[in-house]
Amino acid sequence: MENKTKHLVTAALPYANGYLHLGHIAGAYLPADLYARYKRLRNENIIFICGSDEHGTAIEMSAMKDKVTPKEIIDKYHFANKKAFEDLGISFDIYSRTSNEIHHKTTQEIFLNLYNKGYLIQKTEKQLYSEKDKRFLADRFVEGTCPICGYEEARGDQCENCGSNLSPLELINPKSKISGDTPIIKESVNYYFPLEKFQPELEKWIKSKTNWKSNVKNYCEGWFKTGLKDRAITRDLDWGVKVPLPNNEGKVIYVWFDAPIGYISATKELFIERNEPEKWKDYWCDTKTKLIHFIGKDNIIFHAIFFPAMLMANVGYVLADNIPANEFLNLEGGKLSKSKGHGILVKDILQEFNPDLIRYTIATNLPENKDADFSWDDFQIKNNNELAAILGNFINRTVVFVKNKFDNKIPERINNKDVEILEYLKKQKNIVSECYENFRFRDALNETMNAVRAANKYFNDAEPWKAIKEDKVKCAEIINNCLQICHSISILIAPILPNTSDKIIKILNKDKSDFSWDKIGEICLKSNTELGENQILFPQLEIKAEEKFVEAITADEITVDDFKKIKLRVAKILECELVPKSKKLVKLKIKVGEKEKQIVAGISEFYKPEELVGKLIIVVDNLKKSKLMGIESHGMLLAGKINGKLKIITVDGEIESGAEVN
Ligand code: MF3
Ligand code: ZN
Repeated sequence: MENKTKHLVTAALPYANGYLHLGHIAGAYLPADLYARYKRLRNENIIFICGSDEHGTAIEMSAMKDKVTPKEIIDKYHFANKKAFEDLGISFDIYSRTSNEIHHKTTQEIFLNLYNKGYLIQKTEKQLYSEKDKRFLADRFVEGTCPICGYEEARGDQCENCGSNLSPLELINPKSKISGDTPIIKESVNYYFPLEKFQPELEKWIKSKTNWKSNVKNYCEGWFKTGLKDRAITRDLDWGVKVPLPNNEGKVIYVWFDAPIGYISATKELFIERNEPEKWKDYWCDTKTKLIHFIGKDNIIFHAIFFPAMLMANVGYVLADNIPANEFLNLEGGKLSKSKGHGILVKDILQEFNPDLIRYTIATNLPENKDADFSWDDFQIKNNNELAAILGNFINRTVVFVKNKFDNKIPERINNKDVEILEYLKKQKNIVSECYENFRFRDALNETMNAVRAANKYFNDAEPWKAIKEDKVKCAEIINNCLQICHSISILIAPILPNTSDKIIKILNKDKSDFSWDKIGEICLKSNTELGENQILFPQLEIKAEEKFVEAITADEITVDDFKKIKLRVAKILECELVPKSKKLVKLKIKVGEKEKQIVAGISEFYKPEELVGKLIIVVDNLKKSKLMGIESHGMLLAGKINGKLKIITVDGEIESGAEVN
């Protein structure tokens, strides 16, 4: 282990002021986890670092809005996000937090080191100050019109619309986010980091990175062209790492200075936990370490320019080997952004759905080269048509065959001639490796699934159901192969589908002694071993409209006109029957005024079909037609849940079917 290349993998520290949504996962955390898991399967030396980013004006703002302390905010979201990551199987070696003492100390040391080396520039400058709020308005405490694009809600630090980095003074018509007060200009002394000085060195360094993604290089080249500007690294705020110099009360270190240092302090913490407190240096202070930052595209400047310059100035630290930044993930066409308040929260989707399915669907939609889209229809298709139909099917048909024809024991391979499929898997493994090594995770997934498709094709072509009648020895070899393939597949899919991989290993009744990448395509299962209990890996999924939740963190308001578009009508239930094979669905024939139509609803757990006939209900009459388990539905009935029990909404009295509801 010791002389192998060291991999230091980081994923952007998410702010602890909101819940994680799928956009975060697609941007940084899933790709990072795929990479880390793949590397571990290859027995490489790798640590995977993350934690909560707990400073910055965003957190102070949230605290103010909720009338609590910043500490309450960060505790709430730190632990919630840590758990969401765990539940989704994101396998950090450590998930730390920047409010930890070790982080404050590390940040202050690095700051002081720069100060002592004479790098930091003191500048007296004009700042926005609100007399009403009695404070300076840094970064997000002020909003106004973007001088570049004219967007009216640009923040003091950045314009979300055009992506420009701003300073509060550049905003046109600045207003306090706290009170709406129009600030005055007041002077304050702050420390600057001389970024401009580092431009030549940074340019040279980035030029040498021929294997970086073009989006990352393009962004950097853009900034070089405009010319790097020195950056203030202290702020007139309370919340953050205190400036470790005398006469600096009321000032803290800028969040984007301290946050990336969080990677270093988290590494220190990890090795303190492992009782090797000096070992963090093996990673950070060895220029042969491969440092890889997984981030979303909005963080590129900080990881490709600002943090490397800080490290260059500190001397002796490793610089990034690669920064595979992703674009954004859209939800059903709209932007998934926490600050825009629109997204699917990780904790919510995990309540309803299999984490591996979530990982898989996101991995197929990773915004690697352009923005990508997440949709519920796609989610369902991925489960039913890929995970169930290809992967689940192969494992199940193999295991069922063993159970029915070989007494549930692994049959022997007597001739050992039929090895082509195993050779294919070894080659395919290398193709998949190549994708992971080059951060092409969508391709890695496709090539992984191609291997599973090939496994199904092998089963079909070998026709074990015929061989069992004609040549039992041959059949035994086919099925033995299929079981070896199951084992190989459990390894191959493990980065993407870790839980499913474990389940397959259990079904095979195998230990983990051969669970490593180099065993893909090898014969690892012993004949005559009895298999474990079979289970369906991916049950068919039918996502109901009400499950397609989009957690609106700040609910969108609608106008009366929006509401008028929804045609609610009273309807009478004429007939009702259960939908075969469905746990929840019933098919209803309803009468809306003169017209009769069919709808499908997920209510059979709560109502018997015969109870429903004759009831007057309220339906959304102009809902676009949809298909549920192959049955057309031309509307949706209204219902509410009380203590987990669903009740349909009926009408009071004599309103006739067809009556409009508004
Ligand atoms: N908290 C930042 C964000 O969510 C990311 C910080 S990354 C770090 O955009 F490198 F600074 F840690
Ligand atoms: Zn702008």
